[in-house]
Amino acid sequence: MKFYIGTDHAGIELKDYTVELLKQKGHEVVDLGPYSKDRVDYPDFAQKVCQSVLEDENSKGILICGTGIGMSMAANKFDGIRAALCHNEYSAAMAREHNDANILCLGERVSGEGMIEAIVKAWQSSSFEGGRHANRVEKINKLGS
Ligand code: RB5
Repeated sequence: MKFYIGTDHAGIELKDYTVELLKQKGHEVVDLGPYSKDRVDYPDFAQKVCQSVLEDENSKGILICGTGIGMSMAANKFDGIRAALCHNEYSAAMAREHNDANILCLGERVSGEGMIEAIVKAWQSSSFEGGRHANRVEKINKLGS
């Protein structure tokens, strides 16, 4: 699987850690920044990751900020993006299995490294179940259009 990842300054400590976790699992990871700890605006990096995911079929995205809230709000403005803010591995697995979430949002100030590792492992190893969930996801996709 190919992953695009982006953060703001409040999520940058976890970015390298998360990139390494994904690479260890054999995934390709594209780091869309930022590349320093200077203050930045999270919507700018949400936009980079969302546009890349939308243009690259079968890829997924990870967005990290302090809480994960701003990133999830920004990402869900994009038609075709289903971003899920997850604080535990159960939510991460369900976001893939039931909601076909294509972006995982994480909060560096909320979740520590151990929980982030569990969340990322659950996320990357889970797949959309389809079936009864497919119709619901299709209804999400049609909302607002
Ligand atoms: C930055 O201070 C912080 O507001 C941001 O990282 C994020 O938590 C917003 O939702």
